[in-house]
Amino acid sequence: MTKVSLLLGAFAASACVQAFVVPSAPAVTQGPKLEDRATTCTFSGSNGASSASKSQKSCATIVLSNVAVPSGVTLDLSDLNDGTTVIFEGTTTWGYKEWSGPLLQIEGNHITVQGASGAILNPDGARWWDGEGSNGGKTKPKFFAAHDLTSSTITNLNIKNTPVQAVSINGANGLTINGMTIDNSAGDSGGGHNTDGFDIGSSSNVVISGAKVYNQDDCVAVNSGTNITFSGGLCSGGHGLSIGSVGGRDDNTVQTVTFSNSQVTKSSNGIRIKATAGDTGTIKGVTYSGITLSSITSYGILIEQNYNGGDLHGSPTSGIPITNLILQNISGSGSVQSSATNIAIVCGSGACSNWTWNNVDVTGGKKYGSCQNVPSPASC
Ligand SMILES: *[C@@H]1O[C@H](CO)[C@@H](O)[C@H](O)[C@H]1NC(C)=O
Ligand SMILES: *[C@@H]1O[C@H](CO)[C@@H](O)[C@H](O)[C@H]1NC(C)=O
Ligand SMILES: *[C@@H]1O[C@H](CO)[C@@H](O)[C@H](O)[C@H]1NC(C)=O
Repeated sequence: MTKVSLLLGAFAASACVQAFVVPSAPAVTQGPKLEDRATTCTFSGSNGASSASKSQKSCATIVLSNVAVPSGVTLDLSDLNDGTTVIFEGTTTWGYKEWSGPLLQIEGNHITVQGASGAILNPDGARWWDGEGSNGGKTKPKFFAAHDLTSSTITNLNIKNTPVQAVSINGANGLTINGMTIDNSAGDSGGGHNTDGFDIGSSSNVVISGAKVYNQDDCVAVNSGTNITFSGGLCSGGHGLSIGSVGGRDDNTVQTVTFSNSQVTKSSNGIRIKATAGDTGTIKGVTYSGITLSSITSYGILIEQNYNGGDLHGSPTSGIPITNLILQNISGSGSVQSSATNIAIVCGSGACSNWTWNNVDVTGGKKYGSCQNVPSPASC
């Protein structure tokens, strides 16, 4: 049954693709027919978001063309049919309101999300920026909840100036993100704060390649998850390539995470692994390979088991072991500013083991005097 209807659906899609513009909400269909599912639906303007949300089950391809999402509204595509394609065209904008968002939500199975050439997703975050991020001041909406996406791809999205955190990946299994740009560089002098690029939790088999992130917090932060790869990326202005903080959440397992062939520049840290003191969890099989650092202002490499909301606070504990860690080909000769620290490693007793440390060259700053339980062959 399923096979037959899928085949018919594919036939219908290739035989009679029709495009139509939906200026306002179309009639709601009760259980889409095959012909409906074969259609390309184009939505635009200030009704575009609500029309797209209402019609999402009846479109095989959803084109969002210059959609102006009203204030306080989520562009909600969380109920898509399997196999739906979502294409952003032109400039997508969002109205201003103090609320927690998200401004964009996409969920589903075998979903393809694409940015057309020249498309920009621009929530104009400067309207919220007050230097306080998610710690206070205005309530700022999170930008993109990429949650529960399975066997899906997101290609060439160009995101500009998010109010706070940009992309949250949660509950994903089999998600590939190619060529995404998150450009919050205007926030460097404009009060951008906590503008994390990618926050990843409870997800597996995620690949992010060729991302460019200009921001004021973690470029990537993996809080939990398995088999996650970030490669060919550029991180500028933020806090670097991070694991954690791990600990104190529902899911505290990080396993098999690879950061490769990427650059971190003008950032407070290059490489950072944060395990919360006093908590339990696992950080196993993390690899940093082919990472080039430049203009680092706090720590070239920071690995700590005494994170308590701040870096390097108090005694390290052993409840979140960091094992099977690989650092290889880390080039950062002269990359750390003279007032900053090259490498800090603070481990609990026996809690860091089986590390590979190969061709790690991070210099320019100070030596950290309080490294603890550093497993050979790593060194501070
Ligand atoms: C890791 O994830 C990638 C991308 O989804 C996938 O191709 C690969 O098979 C996964 N590896 C394992 C061991 O599951
Ligand atoms: C040590 O770490 C490497 C790299 O992750 C891994 O392949 C190996 O199995 C680990 N050895 C042990 C004894 O766990
Ligand atoms: C590390 O760098 C060396 C020299 O540039 C290169 O030959 C080697 O393939 C690199 N290894 C990895 C794992 O990237």
